[in-house]
Amino acid sequence: MSGAYDLIVIGTGPGGYVCAIRAAQLGLKVAVVEKRTSFGGTCLNIGCIPSKALLHATEKYEEANHKFADMGIKVSPKLDLKKMMTFKKDGVKGNVEGVAYLLKKNKIDTHIGHGAILSPSRVEVVPTGKESTPIVLETKTIVIATGSDVAGLPGIKIDEKRVVSSTGALKLNRVPKKMIVVGAGVIGLELGSVWRRLGAQVHVIEYLDRILPGMDLGLAKEIQKILKKQGLTFDLGSKLTGLKSDDAGCRLTIEPASGGEVTRADADVVLVAVGRIPFTQGLGLEEAGITKDQRGYIDVNAQYQTNVPGIYAIGDVIKGPMLAHKAEEEGVAVAEILAGQAGHVNYEVIPSVLYTWPEAASVGKTEEQLKQAGTTYNVGKFPFTANGRAKVNRTTEGFIKILADKETDTILGIHMVGPNVSEIIAQAAVIMEFGGSAEDLARTCHAHPTLTEAVKEAALAVDKRAIHM
Ligand code: NAI
Repeated sequence: MSGAYDLIVIGTGPGGYVCAIRAAQLGLKVAVVEKRTSFGGTCLNIGCIPSKALLHATEKYEEANHKFADMGIKVSPKLDLKKMMTFKKDGVKGNVEGVAYLLKKNKIDTHIGHGAILSPSRVEVVPTGKESTPIVLETKTIVIATGSDVAGLPGIKIDEKRVVSSTGALKLNRVPKKMIVVGAGVIGLELGSVWRRLGAQVHVIEYLDRILPGMDLGLAKEIQKILKKQGLTFDLGSKLTGLKSDDAGCRLTIEPASGGEVTRADADVVLVAVGRIPFTQGLGLEEAGITKDQRGYIDVNAQYQTNVPGIYAIGDVIKGPMLAHKAEEEGVAVAEILAGQAGHVNYEVIPSVLYTWPEAASVGKTEEQLKQAGTTYNVGKFPFTANGRAKVNRTTEGFIKILADKETDTILGIHMVGPNVSEIIAQAAVIMEFGGSAEDLARTCHAHPTLTEAVKEAALAVDKRAIHM
């Protein structure tokens, strides 16, 4: 069949725009359809990027308030929240404009409007914000990359002012006196940290008896201990059962997860951060006969093809961790598959990061997963208190933990809490991608003095021969 495009990608988040660029690099004629008036999806517009701007700015504020004096720098910082929000907005603008530039550079046609699948070869676009008539685009293949949306709680209305999702929590116009965060996942802890640093009293309610489900338990306990020291308070094993809000504030009822005595709490702002759900509304999936699983994820095969030939799906709309970089990898893989290559994603090596201070980062198997699978392993652990650079910088909280197969020494997982571990995790992913062993890592020369030496020391510790401990 011949069509105007080889590929139409619906959605321009990190999955969609990366897929479009890779496909264009491989010679395909590509178009993207985006309902927002800027590219980049949730991540760039209302997720990863703006949250990192606020995390960065508030970290500096906290340092200026509490750490500069020890270094002999006298300052009296004063918060200008409006300016901080402008800093965030400018950062987002730079990023979304960067994507627009890349799409143009790669000669990708862009259609701003709501896309719906009419058939495997036709996509309807209803232009955003204009009273113009829908257009129909012809194509040989379609990739759905429409991402995810906030998961709500039954009976609780998110007004994005007092009861907010991550979207509202990124643009509060004043610092709440008290904020209650529902859900101790990445969003709750990152945005809870932002507002705690700016002066809010932050209390976290979590259904499970631990924070950060899915991450290594030892790592989760360490970061919880540190966040508690910073002033965050936690109610684990608890659920929100009721929430009333008006101009005076929010009144909550909380119960133990397994039921029991009700407690009451008040807050100025409640952040609901209990997960995200795949976003496929208005896409025409039912009409096109595309199947989803019980949780709303689009069913795909190993080549990311839905049950309808010619229609593919990637990123948050399919199973797996809802992470921008996972979506990007899938975007590249599907573009390569469509161009006749062997696109592939190694799901064993997808890093995950919590951007608090200190940060937490993980790649590979957790200790709990290894125990459950009956895999025998050695543990090498090295604390930042014994790392020269961390000591001199006075950023000694946290550790690096390496899990290596007992028989082969192959690295199975690396988990870190500490300064800048969002960057350090990359070397862990590289060694795992190459099937490396703890010995390989231990024999790699690491520059001194750097925080990365803690990784080498943890690798040495697998064989009980760390030097600086
Ligand atoms: P999450 O799934 O990470 O955490 C949600 C938490 O809420 C869980 O701990 C869960 O047990 C808890 N929960 C669920 N229902 C509850 C209830 N009724 N009462 C109390 N607790 C309850 O979800 P989150 O933090 O909303 O993030 C959404 C997605 O966005 C995740 O998939 C995450 O990976 C992604 N994301 C990633 C970031 C990063 O990589 N740093 C940053 C922000 C989001």
